[in-house]
Amino acid sequence: MTGSAFALEIREDGLGILTFDLPGEKVNKFSREVFAELSEMLVRLSREPRLRSLLVRSGKPDVFIAGADVKEFTQVGAEEARTMVERGQALFEQLANLPFPTTAAIGGVCLGGGTEFVLACDYRLMAQTPKARIGFPEVRLGIFPAWGGCTRLPKLVGLQAALDLILTGKQIDARRAKKIGLVDEAVPSPIFEDFAHRFAASKLAGTKPRGRRHPMDLATLALEGNPVGRHVVFTKAREKVIEETGGHYPAPLEALEVVEEAYGRPVAAGLEAEANHIANVFGGPVQRNLLWIFFQTEEVKKETAAGAGVRPRPVGRVGVLGAGLMGGGIAQLAADKGMPARMKDIDPKALAGGFAAASRIWKEALAKRRLTRHEMEGKMALLSGTLDFSGFAKCDVTIEAVVEKLGVKRSVLKEWEAVVPRDAIFASNTSTLPIREIAAGAVEAGRVVGMHFFNPVHRMPLVEIIRGERTSEETVATVFDLAKKLGKTPVVVKDSPGFLVNRILAPYLSEAVRLVKEGCRIEEVDRIMTEFGMPVGPVGLLDDVGLDVAVKAGETLEAAFPERMKAAGYEGMVASGRLGRKAGKGFYDYEAGKRLGPSREAYRALGARASDSAPLKRDLIEARLVLPMVNEAAFCLEEGVVASPAKLDLAMIFGTGFPPFRGGLLRHADAVGLDHVAAWLRQLADRFGSRFLPSMTISQLAESGGRFYPERAEVTF
Ligand code: NAI
Repeated sequence: MTGSAFALEIREDGLGILTFDLPGEKVNKFSREVFAELSEMLVRLSREPRLRSLLVRSGKPDVFIAGADVKEFTQVGAEEARTMVERGQALFEQLANLPFPTTAAIGGVCLGGGTEFVLACDYRLMAQTPKARIGFPEVRLGIFPAWGGCTRLPKLVGLQAALDLILTGKQIDARRAKKIGLVDEAVPSPIFEDFAHRFAASKLAGTKPRGRRHPMDLATLALEGNPVGRHVVFTKAREKVIEETGGHYPAPLEALEVVEEAYGRPVAAGLEAEANHIANVFGGPVQRNLLWIFFQTEEVKKETAAGAGVRPRPVGRVGVLGAGLMGGGIAQLAADKGMPARMKDIDPKALAGGFAAASRIWKEALAKRRLTRHEMEGKMALLSGTLDFSGFAKCDVTIEAVVEKLGVKRSVLKEWEAVVPRDAIFASNTSTLPIREIAAGAVEAGRVVGMHFFNPVHRMPLVEIIRGERTSEETVATVFDLAKKLGKTPVVVKDSPGFLVNRILAPYLSEAVRLVKEGCRIEEVDRIMTEFGMPVGPVGLLDDVGLDVAVKAGETLEAAFPERMKAAGYEGMVASGRLGRKAGKGFYDYEAGKRLGPSREAYRALGARASDSAPLKRDLIEARLVLPMVNEAAFCLEEGVVASPAKLDLAMIFGTGFPPFRGGLLRHADAVGLDHVAAWLRQLADRFGSRFLPSMTISQLAESGGRFYPERAEVTF
């Protein structure tokens, strides 16, 4: 760091204006160095006789304070965590104890340590702009606010509102922050700076306010104002955390304990509780895994996926062929990020469906106040539709999402080539077809690439970028960059059957069906995997994907890897129309899209008899489901389907919801120990068939005591 992060201006009337502007960085954040400077500044402020009111503002346009510099967390273990926490607490106490009123002008993002900083100020003002959000993302990194956040926030806004922020990591805008009493004013952004100066100046004659808190409404007061009510609040909050996290994430549970210990007691007691509990989460496996994912995601943001000298081409407009489930979702996503998106379909009804699906997603956001009506209309206006290719010549990238048939995709590509300029790009969203085959008849195969989104498009963060054998570097770089602009995490994969994520999932899904055929209950198989941490169980996932789609994908994979990917035999269900959720019946029954229970018909169709006494032990069921994924992942690494274990883990987390607290499939395998993994796989192969035989990589690593990740990677990232 060169230069200083803080600049103080003192006006003649006694108003001090402290500007935080970290040199050489896009955002303001708290590092050791910044803390050292802040400490000096706070001493200076406390001794400055001219000061009668202080305004703290940011010199960055969109960021107030983004929080702590998490890079420093990597060097901190459980022991140092307490020292780090106490240092921050002491600084913010210094701020809280300044002898004159202090006002924070939150004009942009204010998170984590930033929020704790403003809580130590006397007044908070926040700009009404989508850029300005405030919250505590700590639990998402496996920790909790411990620089006074768990102590001061409940005192200011009440228990329930505070827990809602601390336990979920959600971020709120100025209006919401004002509503719960976190900020004193939500100010229209054009007048924000001016308002903030006037506000702070209006406190020049005032004394320092003490113990301010947002007035509670009667219902809240009745609940939080007495010990019995508070007990109810904590019990409910704990139940909710367990329900939402399966108890796999220690940080929100520790935060709850801290708030419970701190609430209603002096600040010092609260700070002590924060410091006492921090070592229970810091440096633990979950915190390390979550931090690792954070860094990997940040890494992708900096990557270009291109060799030296290759630059992504700018993409202003996006075309989408096919306005069905995926096409509609992709067009919505592009428009949502401010890019004009043109959809083409052969069926006017499908086109109308595409618009309707997009509008549904925005309406949901509108209902949750994440979007204003005006913004929604602006986004809708970016969407257009057509039954011919009009307008496609202007689209820099066209994403193809027509039916999964090679012939149709090839002819669509031919038609597209006839109307677009030579530098346009064709990105297929195919889930199974080789890009080289789609591109086979293309005049210019270099501009054909795969861009595999996951369903539902607006929720799933992964996009697999499939590099065909003739795809140009520039094309890969451009769609990689486009995926990032669309807010997704792209992972480049080889053009091989099932690409990466679906290939790893395939043996897992088939094994789940085999278990059911052997007499395991459908809901039991699913429950074991949701308890493992997957967002849905494998059988439920098959219903969500659609059994027809899954069978087709399975055929491609069986042809490619017959020794490991034999069909599990549920084609009969497809023939009888049990296609899953979309048909209202699959392995489960559904009513109006809602899952009811496992279907008797499904057991019958599979020739299975669910037995009340589970035929297999839980550990064995889990091993039969998880280890084939680990094994397949190892094959993928051997074949160069993906560049590294880290990219593979990222893809599994963002494409399937593989439990983040485990840090990914291969980090999980490392944690289990590859000698164990190999031994289990061999036993499973003996008992259930050669499909379980361990890959060469796993056998070798097991023998040499190796890991997918080098030892050091876990500690220092
Ligand atoms: P869908 O059946 O919902 O939509 C396909 C659309 O393409 C239909 O509206 C159809 O009218 C239209 N279409 C057919 N021929 C066309 C043509 N010549 N020109 C323009 N439009 C045409 O299918 P879905 O699920 O959206 O799948 C589309 C593609 O995305 C497929 O390649 C599929 O494998 C892939 N995919 C599907 C996922 C899923 O979960 N459904 C996930 C990832 C990829």
